[in-house]
Amino acid sequence: MIEIAPSLLAADLADLAGAARICEAGGADLLHVDVMDGHFVPNLTLGVPVVAALRRRTRLPLDVHLMVANPDRLLGEFLDAGADRVSVHWEAATHLDRLLARIREGGAKAGIALNPATPVELLSDILPSADFVLLMSVNPGFGGQAFLPYVLDKARRLHSLILARRLDVFLEIDGGIGPANIRSVVEAGVRTLVAGSAVFATADPVAAQQQLRKLAEGSA
Ligand code: DX5
Ligand code: ZN
Repeated sequence: MIEIAPSLLAADLADLAGAARICEAGGADLLHVDVMDGHFVPNLTLGVPVVAALRRRTRLPLDVHLMVANPDRLLGEFLDAGADRVSVHWEAATHLDRLLARIREGGAKAGIALNPATPVELLSDILPSADFVLLMSVNPGFGGQAFLPYVLDKARRLHSLILARRLDVFLEIDGGIGPANIRSVVEAGVRTLVAGSAVFATADPVAAQQQLRKLAEGSA
């Protein structure tokens, strides 16, 4: 089973309810919501009130990607706002075990996000405490960047590790995903595919989602 998660970062940010409708019409599995604080990444996007507002306007699960320097501080608020999945960056978390436990206690799926340069082997001990790992395939902060091909090998290595240890952890990938590489990331073991520009920077975002799904499933 694969999941398509359009990233709202590439949508019309003045019409997020409209973007959510486009995702529903395109058969998206999740809405990917990028939270940036201007510290962990050199960009600023949206926060708790916007997640809460989205929650009221869509039935799709909200996949909240926290690109913030201090994920501990607003985590409770994001969970209360209705996040269904929350990923925190390994690079930003001083007490990752505690953060993941708090996400699960809040009723959401807990994810560890990894920058491209961070080796997957660092997750060896913490993996069973997570529900998923989000592999960044661009440097976080901006949409529309080129996919970093070496992340494919990270996905393969992490997927093998998960299979070998029979863990219940799935992989998500985020950054530069589109028609040219979506099948190869699925073959590398990734289940959840985030796509911003490849959905919203097209003439027909509904059709783009359907096409990405077909390509991901190998049926196009
Ligand atoms: C980047 C964000 C991504 C971004 C992906 O820091 O985490 O979710 O929206 O955009 P594309 O798919 O355009 O690379
Ligand atoms: Zn993201």
